Amino acid sequence: MSCILLVEDDKNLRYLIKRKLEEKKYIVDEASEGEEAIRKLKEKCYDIVLLDIKLPDMDGLEIVKEFSKTEPKFIIITGYGDIRTAITAVKYGAYDFIQKPFNFDLLEVSIEKALKEKKLEEENKALKSFLFKKEEDYFLETRSPKFKEVLETAKRVAPTDLPVLIRGETGVGKEVLARFIHSVSDRKDKPFVVVDCTTIPEHLFESELFGYEKGAFTGATQRKIGLVELANKGTLFLDEIGDMPVSVQSKLLRFVETKRFRRVGGLKDVEVDVRIISATNKNLEQLIAEGKFREDLYYRINAVELEIPSLRERKEDIPLLVEFFLKKFGKKISRQALNELINYSWEGNVRELKNIIERAAILSTSEYVDEAICLKKKNVSCIENMMNKLPSLEELELMYLEFLYKKFNGDVDAIAQILGCSRRTVFRKLKNLRERKVNFKNTTLL
Ligand SMILES: Nc1ncnc2c1ncn2[C@@H]1O[C@H](COP(=O)(O)OP(=O)(O)OP(=O)(O)O)[C@@H](O)[C@H]1O
Ligand SMILES: [Mg+2]
Repeated sequence: MSCILLVEDDKNLRYLIKRKLEEKKYIVDEASEGEEAIRKLKEKCYDIVLLDIKLPDMDGLEIVKEFSKTEPKFIIITGYGDIRTAITAVKYGAYDFIQKPFNFDLLEVSIEKALKEKKLEEENKALKSFLFKKEEDYFLETRSPKFKEVLETAKRVAPTDLPVLIRGETGVGKEVLARFIHSVSDRKDKPFVVVDCTTIPEHLFESELFGYEKGAFTGATQRKIGLVELANKGTLFLDEIGDMPVSVQSKLLRFVETKRFRRVGGLKDVEVDVRIISATNKNLEQLIAEGKFREDLYYRINAVELEIPSLRERKEDIPLLVEFFLKKFGKKISRQALNELINYSWEGNVRELKNIIERAAILSTSEYVDEAICLKKKNVSCIENMMNKLPSLEELELMYLEFLYKKFNGDVDAIAQILGCSRRTVFRKLKNLRERKVNFKNTTLL
């Protein structure tokens, strides 16, 4: 049976809607004010929230903003004058709106459609967490000694049950490595379940992780199995663990230590056999110092630490990865374009490389993708651009001097002040620049 929270300050209307919905076998809770609605939303998982956008104590939009990205589907009840607000609510993630005075059949249709969509989303989510990425989806060969060592350690610890913590910048392939460890372990035919700690709201975390028993709270009409239990015999991947709320960390700690947990509302412990792999791009040591991450949990999840180097630190792998990403499109790249890729800064690491190559492969009309490659140069700082050409100290000085000369329209005083030298020295250097300019054709700034 589906659970509805009805938020409406008009007592008569509330009574009427509740009665009609209960006739249709929905479970209906009521709230007459915003604060009461928020409290109920935090205590219980609803399928649908019917929300009057104009509440006595607050703007209903605030509730939509806070809760619509999570569990329930919001259907907004609005008066004639509030249609704009209702549209804004839909922009913020509400499912539908319905205008007062409304036809009850219309409301029922909207509820049924919302429930159908919610069910699909839930099924999708469950399926996704079970999906295995095929091995050919990633490329884990390397010419980088540092990454080689990481991969060797990963292979050595894969068959054990030791908890692994994977660190590295965004897009370096932390999830790829976690899936790889799972795929070469004895657990490979069992689930690999991802817990994305950035997207689960704090008040739902415990029930998402550990599930709940029927009757645990008013909306718990049947037992729900949590992610930890879904991962039984397989691997539980705690992604972005640095974002896990501290309140949840203590519950997780107990589980990591004992492999036992209790479903919300449950009376006895459940034991499961899972291997834990965590990942983060945050500085956990700093979070510990700030009191945002439990030190005891840190030691528990960190029996083995694997730090994936950024793509900048393993430029030698760029040609291999480019070839790997181009292969499925049957396209090529010239040596020159490849060199540009090697010298790019890759703030977004392998993810960014993959996106740029795949986009270019799709857009290019010829066999070569060169023309279609569009590096977002603005991300590369000027100094980094200069460094890619690896200038000598003298070249560097001349480039900088010319840069200043252009920037300050030849104002020698200003240049002298910035360089911290006399006007005479600046004149001497500028003279030298003029004489030497012909010798530095390859410096783009000249
Ligand atoms: N070695 C690799 N071979 C092929 N694709 C890779 C590799 N490493 C990363 N990728 C691709 O780059 C993207 C990012 O990888 P992944 O999600 O594993 O990174 P991440 O470190 O978890 O990033 P984030 O910190 O943003 O979560 C994915 O599309 C993934 O397929
Ligand atoms: Mg990730």
